[in-house]
Amino acid sequence: MAITGLILIGFLLVHMYGNLKMFLGAEAFDHYAEWLKGDILYPLIPSGWFIWLFRAFMVAAILLHIYSAVNLWRRAVAANPSGYEAKKKLAQTYSARTMRWGGVILAGLLIFHLAQFTVKATLINGPSTATPYDMVIGEFSVWWMVVLYALWLVTVCMHVRHGLWSAFATLGANTSAKARVVLNGCAWAIALLLYIGFMIMPVAVLFGWIS
Ligand code: HEM
Repeated sequence: MAITGLILIGFLLVHMYGNLKMFLGAEAFDHYAEWLKGDILYPLIPSGWFIWLFRAFMVAAILLHIYSAVNLWRRAVAANPSGYEAKKKLAQTYSARTMRWGGVILAGLLIFHLAQFTVKATLINGPSTATPYDMVIGEFSVWWMVVLYALWLVTVCMHVRHGLWSAFATLGANTSAKARVVLNGCAWAIALLLYIGFMIMPVAVLFGWIS
């Protein structure tokens, strides 16, 4: 869980950074979108292959992450089939308690996100219609879409906050009270960075700061 989780968080940071190129204008963003689907690692691998290898790697990481979650969930149920007598929430944060169902909601909205951008753009509209820049402007000019993303990002960042903390602990970094303070601070900082970094662009589109 820890390693696949860290890979997915790495992807989120890169994706967030890429989205910020919307602030550089249509040409820069469309060039970036084209580059992702073009000659990365060419001539080591044929042109256009990188994106598909990368997608296969991401799907594998997501499936392994879900597989580990289901396994842990099953083990937890097997260890305590009747549930706890008293459901006291001992020093557990809200994020920690919502990891399982939060993860399910997050994944459901990820499917919506992929349908909205990757599938609609490449399979339905075809590459010759709207450019990636125009497509993003179109989608985020609608207020409820920005609200939906703001809510989705809350589930993503809560999951990341607790997930990062857990991953650090699993990998052996939770060694002292001081280390816990540092780890918690890092987990919060990265979750907040992701929230602000992802949401600033849709908000800017909605208010017409980029158009
Ligand atoms: C405000 C937040 C976000 C915006 C504006 C955004 C925007 C986009 C856009 C425009 C694409 C299409 C790229 C293309 O095919 O040319 C895309 C693809 C994608 N996004 Fe996001 N995204 C956001 C948040 C997220 C989050 C939180 C996740 C994961 C939980 C995510 C996962 C993905 C994935 C997996 C792809 C597919 C990449 C591919 O086609 O190989 N995105 N996103």
